[in-house]
Amino acid sequence: MKLTNILNKRWAKRNAAGLAAGGVAGLTAGVLLTVLCAGGVLSDKEADYAAEKTELAEENAQLSEELDKYRAVEDNTETLAGDSDAWAMILVNEAHPLDASYVPESLTTISDGCMVDGRIAADLQQMMQDGAAQGLSMYVTSAYRSYDQQTETFNASMQNRLNQGMTPLQAYRETSVQVALPGTSEHATGLAVDIISTQYDELDERQGDTAEQQWLMAHCWEYGFILRYPPEKSDITGIIYEPWHYRYVGKTVAKAITEKGITLEEYLGEDKVN
Ligand code: DAL
Ligand code: ZN
Repeated sequence: MKLTNILNKRWAKRNAAGLAAGGVAGLTAGVLLTVLCAGGVLSDKEADYAAEKTELAEENAQLSEELDKYRAVEDNTETLAGDSDAWAMILVNEAHPLDASYVPESLTTISDGCMVDGRIAADLQQMMQDGAAQGLSMYVTSAYRSYDQQTETFNASMQNRLNQGMTPLQAYRETSVQVALPGTSEHATGLAVDIISTQYDELDERQGDTAEQQWLMAHCWEYGFILRYPPEKSDITGIIYEPWHYRYVGKTVAKAITEKGITLEEYLGEDKVN
């Protein structure tokens, strides 16, 4: 699916659902814009950006109201931190944001600078070991990310696009289908990992052609993981194809999702907003 189509569908979806976390992200983008303008970085283009800033601000106000309503009815951190088996099936996306202060109780270091929720560490390590035993060479490049780290990632990606000459609104829209808006990233749960091949370290579609990703895609369910953002499902997940992002959902659910060829949203019946 073309990026513009994803963006259009995503925008329509967000408007239709009054999606809550857009408020969080809109605020983030707003903060970035304010900083850029205040710092004089954008001074020569400030007039051009004023209209877009206003558009974002209006959207922020509307979405923030929705966010308040949403927060009043759901606290998924209780499920995530709880004893019931439901923790592994937690859905975190734009419609289901995670509290900014959530930190997994048992953060466990799995490699240099990478931590995951301790409940998934053994299965993850087994998957990596079994892959290595097949002669594959891959590593976890990103795992748990706090809200603040996600904000940094989001803003850096947006800045990169601004540097390429995109307008703030274009940069914001394109970034938000590739980097989850702060408060809506699965990385904050400690249940998601980005794994890349040492043969090819770019985070783009070609990553999916490597022997490492081919093996992971075929076998990750055996260890309780799913490829979370598959191709052709962006209109449901809101995120482009990411052949490196694996999400722990538990072995039973991973098997069912893989056999059916569906997303976590579809499995949980949360794909009906389109
Ligand atoms: N890149 C994924 C969607 C994230 O930022 O969580
Ligand atoms: Zn990821």
